[in-house]
Amino acid sequence: MFKKLQQHWGVSSIGVALIIATFALGGSACGYLGRLVLNLLNIENGAIWTLVYILLITLLWPICVLLISIPFGQFSFFSKYVGKLLSRFKRKKTASQTTNIAIYASGAGSNAAKIIEHFKNAANIHIALLVCNKPDAGVLQIAAAHNIPALLIEKDRFFKADAYFPDLQKHHINFIVLAGFLWKMPNLLIKYFPKKIVNIHPALLPKYGGKGMYGHFVHEAVIAAKETESGISIHYVDELYDHGEIIFQAKCLVSEIDTPTTLAAKIHALEHLHYPAVIDDILQNRS
Ligand code: GAR
Repeated sequence: MFKKLQQHWGVSSIGVALIIATFALGGSACGYLGRLVLNLLNIENGAIWTLVYILLITLLWPICVLLISIPFGQFSFFSKYVGKLLSRFKRKKTASQTTNIAIYASGAGSNAAKIIEHFKNAANIHIALLVCNKPDAGVLQIAAAHNIPALLIEKDRFFKADAYFPDLQKHHINFIVLAGFLWKMPNLLIKYFPKKIVNIHPALLPKYGGKGMYGHFVHEAVIAAKETESGISIHYVDELYDHGEIIFQAKCLVSEIDTPTTLAAKIHALEHLHYPAVIDDILQNRS
């Protein structure tokens, strides 16, 4: 371990000993000073005492280690160390202000393309990942063309294990957009992303939703039922298929001469027009 620390910090073995000594003395000194200040302030033991103590040692620790590092000849190491900690903290703050979207798609990806295009120059909204379950899906080429990392997923891990949550964490994903993704979202992800997963469905929910209702199957069912209108539904995703709270719907007419293909084209036009803008609205209203 000593050797590892030596390599990690790029110092000699004496350097490692002096750094550890500085950490130990700095830690004890800030603990001691913290208590001293609390005594001076006359704060009684309890929740407030603990809170103030944590606050004090957080503030005192860098000062103590920096001061103690001077006689130990380790000031340059500790000034860099404290600097790194501060910049990590700042980076975390900025990262939490950014929305990192993962788009889940299984098909051609025309919706994904529109969403990527829409947020291309957005300051705080970033398409950080494309998740796909089909190795030959067209959407993968779209992601590649935009230099968006793609994650190819398989059923067992998605439904029976960690649902690739660690990969989402790696990309700091904090919002999920389903754009023609045909698998049900596992409960695990719904739990980790409450009201942070949206889906688009090519019909006016609650009609023509549910298991097996996707793409052309939806349009065929709408035409077979002689509906005079269809449309799109954008909704939050919950544990059931096509069931969560509806955020937005738009309609189009279905004429007698419409086929599943012509209806799909009308629906796609509506989706491309509205989906990126609705996602944008949701995200602006959240922040
Ligand atoms: C879209 O029409 C979307 O509404 C539908 O798949 C299509 C994907 O097209 N989604 C569903 O049917 C989900 N139940 P795209 O790959 O060109 O974006």
